[in-house]
Amino acid sequence: MKILVRLLMPLAVIVGATVVVCARLLHQDIRHLALPVALVVLLVLAVLWWDLIRPLSTIVRWMRRFRFGEPDAPWALPRKGFLAPLAREARRMAQSLVAARAAAAEEARLRNAGESRWTPDRLREHVRTALKGRPLVVVSNREPYVHVRQDRQIRCLTPPGGLVTAMEPVLRACSGTWIAAGTGEADRDTADAHGRLRVPPDAPLYTLRRIWLTPEEEQGHYYGFANEGLWPLCHIAHTRPVFRADDWHQYVRVNEKFAEAVFEEIADTDEPCLVVQDYHLALLPRLVKDKRPDAKIALFWHIPWPNPEAFGICPWARELLQGMLGADLVGFHIQFHCNNFLDTVDRMLESRIDWEHFSVTRADRTTWVKPFPISIAGPAPDASPAVGAGQTAKEAVLKSLGITARWLGVGVDRLDYTKGLLERLSAIERFLDKYPAFREQFVFVELGAPSRTKIPRYQEFEASVEAEIERINRRFQTRAWKPIVFLKKQHSHQEIAPFYQAADVCLVTSLHDGMNLVSKEFVASRTDERGVLILSQFTGASRELLDALLVNPYDIDQVADAVQYAVTMEPEEQQARMSRMRETVQEHNVYRWAAALLTELARLRPSPAPAASPLQLPAE
Ligand code: F6P
Repeated sequence: MKILVRLLMPLAVIVGATVVVCARLLHQDIRHLALPVALVVLLVLAVLWWDLIRPLSTIVRWMRRFRFGEPDAPWALPRKGFLAPLAREARRMAQSLVAARAAAAEEARLRNAGESRWTPDRLREHVRTALKGRPLVVVSNREPYVHVRQDRQIRCLTPPGGLVTAMEPVLRACSGTWIAAGTGEADRDTADAHGRLRVPPDAPLYTLRRIWLTPEEEQGHYYGFANEGLWPLCHIAHTRPVFRADDWHQYVRVNEKFAEAVFEEIADTDEPCLVVQDYHLALLPRLVKDKRPDAKIALFWHIPWPNPEAFGICPWARELLQGMLGADLVGFHIQFHCNNFLDTVDRMLESRIDWEHFSVTRADRTTWVKPFPISIAGPAPDASPAVGAGQTAKEAVLKSLGITARWLGVGVDRLDYTKGLLERLSAIERFLDKYPAFREQFVFVELGAPSRTKIPRYQEFEASVEAEIERINRRFQTRAWKPIVFLKKQHSHQEIAPFYQAADVCLVTSLHDGMNLVSKEFVASRTDERGVLILSQFTGASRELLDALLVNPYDIDQVADAVQYAVTMEPEEQQARMSRMRETVQEHNVYRWAAALLTELARLRPSPAPAASPLQLPAE
């Protein structure tokens, strides 16, 4: 109201003066102009009130309530109109404030408890000291932000998968540069001429440097050699690896292309620190080391490493190993994969293996091989479920899907044959056969993100998952219930969170998985210390989450029994198990992982690449 009065006063003076001047100029009686002018003024006031004053006072009220810590729905702010950008910025500022308040509270809690938990701030300081102020450079094939066109607009998406989930909080904390392939159709439009942009787009903290691959390079490198060759080779999940000379050729070329970008980014830094990610870039450490022997290079391998016999079927196994051994440090999730790697090197290359310190020495240089179990950042500050009054998280989720059930099971996966999805579906079918009392009472929701869809094996897999779900639903469904709901799309973390929070049981049944971060995300999101995790014994996470119900996903009866055990587990047992797992995930978060890896890397003295012939391209 005050704003209205303040606006009205000068407006009345201006309008009055204008009427008098006009009347004089037009030689009119002032009373003739009064009505039209009054109407115009009223109209202007109405527009001002509706478009400016009303939304402005909503924003002011909202900010005041927020400042005093009163709960208020962020969507109460205007989303359209003249003041929408201001409201958007207010909302963002409020989000930052919530995160800052949560971080301060957590820091205070840690100080009081005298604990040694890793936080973004602690990692930032630690890395600054360890790297002596040098910038951190991370390289992966997958980028953390993809720009796509949707509904004639450019949208920014976060791709699914463990690598981005884990690395993104580390880069946010430490800053630096992340080099990755630009794969979105609007990626070029959102980067500068050098492929660089600051991210996260809402509140930039580090630089994303995109590199551009041709369709042939992407096909041969990513779809072909990496995902039809190395992926099944390392996972041993009964899909035969395919190795083609053309794919290998592109794999080498793309690794060289990444190396060129790395050289540009580290040109001005002495002893730069480089963290290379995953099986797409096995040759990169050696390519960089050959030209920049002063670089300290870590390679982190996110997927399992098989035994030497299995790895040996790759026609370019030796070249891959030579490429990897350009790194000073090679990391896997678990010791078992380190041992398999050292065994493989021992079998294939002339080298000296130190089994006491886990290192490989070739010519005059050494590569250390160590386990670094990766993790997640921990619960998000806004991890509490967004439910309506008097509603449980489960009721809200079931209502949003239009289903009724007493128990809810959840699965979250990239649609990949290594995730044991078909085995999981068989186990649910078996569960309903063996324990018919749960029919019409239990529903399983699968949130499946399509992945690598150009590869025929992935297309077949997706089709067989859909067919299997249809068959099982047809077998059991009634008028008001079906046992399985398949939500096939790439869900954001915000969309997945309510399902984690609502589930009685989360099923992770990978046939083989380096770590599996879905299991850790589920645990982190259970602030209520409820819910049961069923976890494949063939995941890296099973080494840490010992309070999950550990299963062999190939043993369908065992998984079916685990589902029955989970949904009938007493709340006290759920709480005891969940709180121990939460403790583990909070303690061993991704900041601790990054600190361990980078401390180890910084400690090493970089040694030159071994004298060996350069990588040979296959004859074209
Ligand atoms: O799990 C291995 C991995 O490469 C992750 O590191 C990655 O996040 C995930 O697979 C997804 O892969 P892509 O980049 O092919 O989508």
